Amino acid sequence: MDYFLIWLSVSYSVILYSPLIAAQQFEYRYHICTDNSTYTVNSSFPSNLNATLSSLYENASRSDGFGSISVGKNSDRVFALFLCRGDDSPESCRRCIKTAREEIKIRCPNYKEAIIWYDRCMLRYSNRSIFSVTEESPKAWLWNMNDIGNAIDQNQFNSNLVGLMNQLITRAASSSNFFAMGDTNGTAYNRIYGTVQCTPDISPSECRKCLSGRVSDIPSCCSGKVGGNVLTPSCSIRFETYPFYTAPPAPLPPASSPSPPTPPPTSLNPSGERKASSRTVLYISVPTSAFAVLFFSICYYCYVHKKAKKENSAMKGGN
Ligand SMILES: *[C@@H]1O[C@H](CO)[C@@H](O)[C@H](O)[C@H]1NC(C)=O
Ligand SMILES: *[C@@H]1O[C@H](CO)[C@@H](O)[C@H](O)[C@H]1NC(C)=O
Ligand SMILES: *[C@@H]1O[C@H](CO)[C@@H](O)[C@H](O)[C@H]1NC(C)=O
Ligand SMILES: *[C@@H]1O[C@H](CO)[C@@H](O)[C@H](O)[C@H]1NC(C)=O
Ligand SMILES: *[C@@H]1O[C@H](CO)[C@@H](O)[C@H](O)[C@H]1NC(C)=O
Ligand SMILES: *[C@@H]1O[C@H](CO)[C@@H](O)[C@H](O)[C@H]1NC(C)=O
Repeated sequence: MDYFLIWLSVSYSVILYSPLIAAQQFEYRYHICTDNSTYTVNSSFPSNLNATLSSLYENASRSDGFGSISVGKNSDRVFALFLCRGDDSPESCRRCIKTAREEIKIRCPNYKEAIIWYDRCMLRYSNRSIFSVTEESPKAWLWNMNDIGNAIDQNQFNSNLVGLMNQLITRAASSSNFFAMGDTNGTAYNRIYGTVQCTPDISPSECRKCLSGRVSDIPSCCSGKVGGNVLTPSCSIRFETYPFYTAPPAPLPPASSPSPPTPPPTSLNPSGERKASSRTVLYISVPTSAFAVLFFSICYYCYVHKKAKKENSAMKGGN
């Protein structure tokens, strides 16, 4: 695991010496604009939406990483919420929400309902109340392009992964912010790092149920991969074989909590079925550090499969 530390310290230097790169530290994951939900521009929905997203942004650094607000009346009422990753600093959270707020307008213009995910935050809004409701759809699956490989024991990896996830679920559901992170032995050759998180406006039992559902998505989503990310509006999980979150004992650096900078990855909807209620995703992330390239392949995530099995599971996961 030494090389992970090297990678982090190299990336950290990059941030120190290159503020421009640090400014784009939020990795885009995916977004969904709800079908058939466009508003008319002469309604008061767009200005309510503007006001809602502005308030969310204003309050992002004051909150505990979660905020919800509603603006407007009747059919033009807007409900919106955001969630930042549990290990994120208020300042970083605020910057992520700023990015998300701008991007969601661009990616879902004139939509009454949309959601966008980054590695460190999620933002969603709708014309219906989305507060305190558990929603496990739509769902996005992303996976690390790198295979676990035949050289190591995949069964051991998988059972340790599930063990870690179940531990994290228990911890998250009994925590105040519904977030947990931790690591465990993967195999003799690697460790597994994981995070699980729910929006804190649902109940602990709903959080537990939502997260357990995401863990049961792993075999379909990310089987044989060294990393995976399953996203739904109410909960999400992620695992990698490198420490992608802020390690708890390490005090935060004074400026903020930098993460390894990467250019924005691209995403595709491989099936071309834009109306499907759940998606599988191409996700590419290119490390900027030359050292990282030595240790990781150039692309982290990508859409790999053409397997009907996965498509079927994806469809079953929707709705
Ligand atoms: C969306 O609208 C199109 C045409 O207006 C319609 O064919 C389709 O069934 C609608 N989809 C949903 C989910 O309502
Ligand atoms: C939200 O907008 C959609 C699409 O215009 C509409 O069908 C639905 O009834 C609206 N929901 C509420 C609660 O106003
Ligand atoms: C918006 O404009 C359309 C036609 O352009 C009109 O039919 C509709 O009544 C208008 N809505 C409002 C709220 O003014
Ligand atoms: C929303 O805010 C942006 C600037 O932040 C502005 O350009 C746009 O006109 C506003 N839209 C509405 C409907 O208020
Ligand atoms: C944001 O802060 C303002 C004033 O501090 C408060 O009135 C408002 O309710 C807050 N909104 C949210 C979404 O927390
Ligand atoms: C993790 O692996 C190390 C070295 O292989 C071993 O000593 C340790 O007992 C393992 N820990 C667990 C919890 O399996």
